[in-house]
Amino acid sequence: MNILIVGAGGFIGSHLSEEILKSHRDWKIKALDISSDKVSLLLNDSNFEFYKCDILKEFELQEELVKQCDVVLPLAAIASPLVYVQNPLCVFELDFEANLRIVRWCVQHKKRVIFPSTSEVYGMCSDQEYDEESSNCVTGPINKQRWIYSCSKQMLDRVVYAYGQRDGLQFTLFRPFNWIGSRLDDIYNENNGSSRVVTQFLSNILHGKPINLVDGGNQIRCFTDITDAIGALVKIIENKNGCANQQIFNIGNPYNELSIKELAYMIVDLAKGYDKVRSLAEKTEIKELQAAEYYGKSYQDVQRRVPSIKKAEQILGWKPSATTKEAIKKIMDYYFG
Ligand SMILES: NC(=O)c1ccc[n+]([C@@H]2O[C@H](COP(=O)([O-])OP(=O)(O)OC[C@H]3O[C@@H](n4cnc5c(N)ncnc54)[C@H](O)[C@@H]3O)[C@@H](O)[C@H]2O)c1
Repeated sequence: MNILIVGAGGFIGSHLSEEILKSHRDWKIKALDISSDKVSLLLNDSNFEFYKCDILKEFELQEELVKQCDVVLPLAAIASPLVYVQNPLCVFELDFEANLRIVRWCVQHKKRVIFPSTSEVYGMCSDQEYDEESSNCVTGPINKQRWIYSCSKQMLDRVVYAYGQRDGLQFTLFRPFNWIGSRLDDIYNENNGSSRVVTQFLSNILHGKPINLVDGGNQIRCFTDITDAIGALVKIIENKNGCANQQIFNIGNPYNELSIKELAYMIVDLAKGYDKVRSLAEKTEIKELQAAEYYGKSYQDVQRRVPSIKKAEQILGWKPSATTKEAIKKIMDYYFG
């Protein structure tokens, strides 16, 4: 199987590429990204062809690569809440427009597409567990610009689904729920808000800055270890007996429900076990502040986000196993061990 991974140099793309090169030597990867930093160790593998390419510009190369592959995973996107509020049009242009082009090439050249939706599409849905088939997608007013990411993803979900129905596009949509692991954003970047939550907290400890709990950190999330998550993705790519065709899967760990406040204390506590950051962790202050102070006025949050993973369990035979603590320890071993 020839697999095109767009955004292969990112968090998910790099872990997925690594796993495929290890466990599926009969699969070949064409990897496309603007940066190869996170996949530098894979560049010499004969099953990994890297193309440096900006998907906002180089259309011919992208279409050619789509034509050469059997399966396409368009993973390039902006997935950082601060950018949703500071540069919403950038999010629209990359996450929606650029990815729509790739989806259309998949339709035109009859390629299977495995598209990353997001847990964010459920927005402020109040269901106890979010269900792929029945939960509503609930977003806020237009002046709350943070929803542009959720809406861009939701619209693409709908477009992919409609191409599936009308033109027979073979697709799978997967919805990650807070996947965490090494190489998730840049812990060496000092800017507050430039990363997703786990990286942000680690970065704050490393730079001797306080950890900010936005609105008290009472928001509940389910953190999912990247190794567990990649296991689900590989099963989707394998697609035994076509089981993943025309399906949407939540990929998350409902057994790992945790508040952001609990996460902050857990991270600081675990960091005290590593020589490299012990003294910094002992001094790290955890403070509370309002969302408007941190993200500006156009932010709005989701209070509790828990996936139902019945579909993934039943159809893919997949179940996550790592606790949040185990996942965080693995990240710390990677950076501080
Ligand atoms: N990590 C999660 O928990 C999570 C949750 C929900 C959804 N997702 C979705 O999964 C996908 C992958 O997420 P990730 O965490 O790996 O993100 P990431 O930011 O780590 O990776 C995205 C990659 O896209 C590349 N990219 C950005 N702009 C580009 C351009 N113009 N041309 C070519 N490449 C470009 C970046 O260099 C980066 O390597 C995204 O669509 C994201 O929205 C991720």
